[in-house]
Amino acid sequence: MSAIVKVDRLEKTYADGFQALSSVSLDIAHGEVLALLGPNGAGKTTLISTICGLVQPTGGSVHVDGHDIAADYRQARALIGLVPQEITLEPFDKVISSVRFSRGLFGKPRDEAHIERTLRQLSLWDKRNSRIKELSGGMKRRVLIAKALAHEPRILFLDEPTAGVDVELRRGMWDTVAGLKADGVTIILTTHYIEEAEAIADRVGVINKGRILLVEDKDKLMARMGRKQLRIELHEPLTALPEGLSGHDLELVDDGAALVYTYDTAGPRTGITRLLSDLAAAGIVLRDIQTSQSSLEDIFVGLVQEEDAA
Ligand SMILES: Nc1ncnc2c1ncn2[C@@H]1O[C@H](COP(=O)(O)OP(=O)(O)O)[C@@H](O)[C@H]1O
Ligand SMILES: [Mg+2]
Repeated sequence: MSAIVKVDRLEKTYADGFQALSSVSLDIAHGEVLALLGPNGAGKTTLISTICGLVQPTGGSVHVDGHDIAADYRQARALIGLVPQEITLEPFDKVISSVRFSRGLFGKPRDEAHIERTLRQLSLWDKRNSRIKELSGGMKRRVLIAKALAHEPRILFLDEPTAGVDVELRRGMWDTVAGLKADGVTIILTTHYIEEAEAIADRVGVINKGRILLVEDKDKLMARMGRKQLRIELHEPLTALPEGLSGHDLELVDDGAALVYTYDTAGPRTGITRLLSDLAAAGIVLRDIQTSQSSLEDIFVGLVQEEDAA
């Protein structure tokens, strides 16, 4: 993997003594979409703000395309666009001048073609002369993205881009992210919506209490940690599990009308063959069988609960 951002043993302890990041190490690949998933207070905003140079780390380092974020702040920061969690726009500004202004902040020369391309890409071109206060919530979010892209960064950080946004706007945002990725922009977004990570990320990082619990390819993660369940509908309901079946990971559900068998998809064997023959030996007649796969949500909740219990 060729990393465009390298985070090495990053630490952040706030002035009040609260440790928000503990030895966070993370490589972000060129052109990927990485979703940082974690509950409220996990440290997502702190991590992003530190990488972007807005929060001073108390340990460790961040390199952006080889530039140390502290020592070479300007070079590193020029490569980064940041869309903050809170909407921070001047209500009376016009869309296009607000985006131009953001470009100017980075000392970049005027480039109307780039501004137009960016506004078109975000479906804001028709609104370029509207004032911010005249826009809907979804449009305001897109203006924030346009402002973050105004200086042509190669890496875009989106902090909770769809928090509190309705389902339709959320899908629109996912399309926007896909379009930016297709343009070669590396994207890091934080979210506490698991379905969002499932929908758009190439890799998923799980963060809780300031620690990275894992970073993994989304598909591999789901295959590795995914558990499958086999639901067996019974011809006659059972009042209890027969003796001969106690060796299986079985649960009697629906007032005894069905059995649920949980197995590991990554295990050497599923145990289904033996289960079925033990069921037959116990004289149990089956009516129907269904399988289901655990989602990223189950995996995430399991991980965070494990951490909280530790
Ligand atoms: N300026 C600050 N001073 C002290 N504690 C802070 C500050 N900013 C954030 N925190 C604390 O750090 C933790 C992580 O916050 P944050 O990074 O915003 O989490 P997230 O974005 O995952 O919800 C929280 O417990 C929060 O209260
Ligand atoms: Mg946050």
